[in-house]
Parts: sequence; structure tokens; C-alpha cells
Amino acid sequence: MKKLSLTIDYLEYENMDELIAEDKNLMQQAHEAGKSAYAPYSNFSVGAAVLLENGVVVKGSNQENAAYPTGLCAERVAVFSAGTNYPGVAIKTIAITAKSSRIKVESPVTPCGDCRQAISEYEVLYNKPIRFLLMGETGKVLELKNVGSLLPLRFEGKNAFHSH
Ligand code: THU
Repeated sequence: MKKLSLTIDYLEYENMDELIAEDKNLMQQAHEAGKSAYAPYSNFSVGAAVLLENGVVVKGSNQENAAYPTGLCAERVAVFSAGTNYPGVAIKTIAITAKSSRIKVESPVTPCGDCRQAISEYEVLYNKPIRFLLMGETGKVLELKNVGSLLPLRFEGKNAFHSH
């Protein structure tokens, strides 16, 4: 038996103005995407903007349903749309933001576990790290360099489904 540890490095920016131009633009598009959220039940609007390797940005917003679990998070709407419309094109970065009509979202929103797993699939598929930029409506931005930073010891299909 041995004791192991994992550490996660990430960057924290005071606000989105500190980001490089490409990242700030992507975060602006995530804010824009959030405006299309259909969130009448939670009043929590999430926007995601996915930057692909070919420079295209694919947006997503959360889409809720009267049967609550039937809805889908912004991140999965965005990455599934990217997979549908740009198959074979790797994802470079995903920017995520959130806004609520009930509270001021001042700290970064982090993707739920299901979305982490869904995004992980594309990182493994294309064998390229997917970077995350996370923020609330305002305030700090977190930058994480890959899915492993958000989902360590993740489940990967290659270990379960493919023979060696
Ligand atoms: N939601 C997202 O779209 N992304 C997240 O990362 C967290 C949660 C959505 C799901 C639901 O529509 C609302 O936010 C409240 O949970």
C-alpha cells in the first residue's frame, strides 16, 4: 500500500478584463449564450461557449423542462452541438458563465459532474486538452488547463470497452 496525492493547478483572474483577447472574447460569447437560456424553473441562466480548433465558436445555454431531469445544462448543449455540427474537430476551450434573477452570481460557476464527464469524452476522443474558463455574472475568472483538473480519476471508456 502506498499513499498518493493529486494536486490541481489553476489560475485566478480578478475579472475578465485580465484575460487575453481570445479568452475575453470567448467569455463574452458565453455571456451572450446565457441570454438564450430557457430556465423558468430555476431562474439560473447558464451560458457556455466552446472554441473549436478551427476557430469556430459553438454556444449553448441551459434548457429546462417541466419534468425537471429532462432539461439539459448549457455545457452539454454546447459540446453536443459541437459534436453534431463539427464532428472530428477538437475542442480547445470552453467558457462558462451564469446569471440568476434571484441572486447576484459573483463567484465562478463550475460545471456539474455529468457535464464534466460529457466534456471528458471529447478530450479523450481528440486527445487534446480542453481548457476551462469559469466565471459568474461578474467577478473572478478561473482557468483550468484540462478536464483532469475538474474530474481527477475520471472514467475513460478506453479502459472499459477496448481490448488491450
Ligand atoms: N446548470 C447548467 O446549465 N450548468 C451547470 O454547470 C450547472 C447547472 C443548469 C441546470 C439547471 O437548468 C440550472 O442550471 C439550475 O441548476
